[in-house]
Amino acid sequence: MAFEKNILCIGAGYVGGPTMAMIAYKCPQYKVTVVDINPERIIQWNSSELPVYEPGLDEIVRVARGKNLFFSTQIDKGIKESDIIFVSVNTPTKTFGTGAGMAADLQYWEKTARHIREAATSNKIIVEKSTLPVKTALAMERILKAGKNGACFEVLSNPEFLAEGTAVRDLEDPDRVLIGSNETASGLKAREELVKIYANWVPEERIITSNIWSSELSKLVANAFLAQRISSINSITPLCEKTDASISEVARAVGLDSRVGDKFLKAGIGFGGSCFKKDILNLVYLCRCYHLDTVADYWEGVVKINEYQKERFVLNMLNAMFNTLAGKRVCLFGFAFKADTGDTRESPAIFIATRLLEEKAELVITDPKALDNARKNLDGLDGKILYFEDPYEASVNCDAIAVMTEWGIYKDLDYPKIYRSMTNPAFIFDGRNILDHRRLFEIGFNVFSIGKPPMTHF
Ligand code: NAD
Ligand code: UGA
Repeated sequence: MAFEKNILCIGAGYVGGPTMAMIAYKCPQYKVTVVDINPERIIQWNSSELPVYEPGLDEIVRVARGKNLFFSTQIDKGIKESDIIFVSVNTPTKTFGTGAGMAADLQYWEKTARHIREAATSNKIIVEKSTLPVKTALAMERILKAGKNGACFEVLSNPEFLAEGTAVRDLEDPDRVLIGSNETASGLKAREELVKIYANWVPEERIITSNIWSSELSKLVANAFLAQRISSINSITPLCEKTDASISEVARAVGLDSRVGDKFLKAGIGFGGSCFKKDILNLVYLCRCYHLDTVADYWEGVVKINEYQKERFVLNMLNAMFNTLAGKRVCLFGFAFKADTGDTRESPAIFIATRLLEEKAELVITDPKALDNARKNLDGLDGKILYFEDPYEASVNCDAIAVMTEWGIYKDLDYPKIYRSMTNPAFIFDGRNILDHRRLFEIGFNVFSIGKPPMTHF
């Protein structure tokens, strides 16, 4: 069968894989190919063990793979054969040179632009899917224009707003799809091409368009706003702990104001994930480059509160457990940065585990999906660390349990059984405020949560 369009995506990661699987699933008339420089990732995408755990993803990949969805390492061939190329490579925080620790590292993205330029022999639409600093499309256009093959390129910005753990739902039913383009005749034509793809399943009113710079900037600002809400609520938690107020009650009262809304007001050990911190630092760096230091300081505060919240959690544990953790066994319930993913990038659990090891605590880690990543994250650290998939096995002989991830399974465990298997006095530190604290206290635990008065037996 001849396909209507050939779509290529460069970068088969958390975004490239699921996004392209959804396009292929919804649009059998298009051929969608996803390429990557990492052959192992491609092997995994072609196997029954996908490299990314996302509820519902296996099913859509199973339906489309081999029919109109293909995973490959043949990047040149993919570029030559495609009409539209999505670029979804990683853009981590730079770790070297100017802007180290703040700016986005654009080396993977730039290599991709050069690769497209060298391999392309016909006109293409290039779609920035990765999150990039505002004005990156200009650099991409300049690199592409320097090509000698006579091909013309139109660059669009189409940032991705999916969240991990709900990627399939977010892609299938997005709040909005944002497409930014140059406001020239060819830019507007390319924009329409991309609108047409999404219109196969997204209602028209949710496909919004803008100029290309607004689109690039909107992605950074969207993440900064979401993270800001988490830091705002977390910033109130120490005050609640000092004053016997409850952060859940405060969040409910504040969130019921329809102007504020109740989402993203869940206090905890701080936000993790590969993007919030990186994207805010990127925004801060951009502001500093434009000498907007007051604006930069404001947004940097969101990251600072997040660091403070993680450290505060460790200090609260230390304080509650008689100011010494040396030789005590602490069980971490969860290691992923959020529930329903195996991803541990920037997980608060990494920081907390590292700090607990510095205090000479022994760690037992349990997580339904993230143990392999946890092992990699903690590899080489000094101290004793054990890993168990089963939370009951993990908590035996522990002095404390600390909830790191809001996995649903932790809510319904047999806590009397867990209590009997632990050392006394037994402590629970609920870093996500998901457990029934009163019940745990009645079982015999000393219970510490975030932004609520502790419940102790001494
Ligand atoms: P990732 O690290 O999971 O995937 C990136 C992939 O790109 C890797 O497999 C890597 O091997 C590949 N790659 C790098 N350079 C390449 C090259 N020159 N040619 C071919 N392949 C190459 O990253 P991710 O989480 O998918 O994020 C990708 C982008 O999307 C980032 O800019 C991120 O900020 C943004 N984003 C991520 C999420 C998320 O939930 N993870 C959500 C929205 C936006
Ligand atoms: C986030 C955004 O929600 C996506 O829209 C965006 O596309 C993505 O970043 C990205 O650019 O990578 P993600 O990081 O996958 O998605 O997950 P979130 O649900 O946003 O959670 C991020 C962190 O905040 C997690 O550690 C979570 O536990 C924490 N969180 C979230 C809270 O502590 N409280 C809340 O109320 C909500």
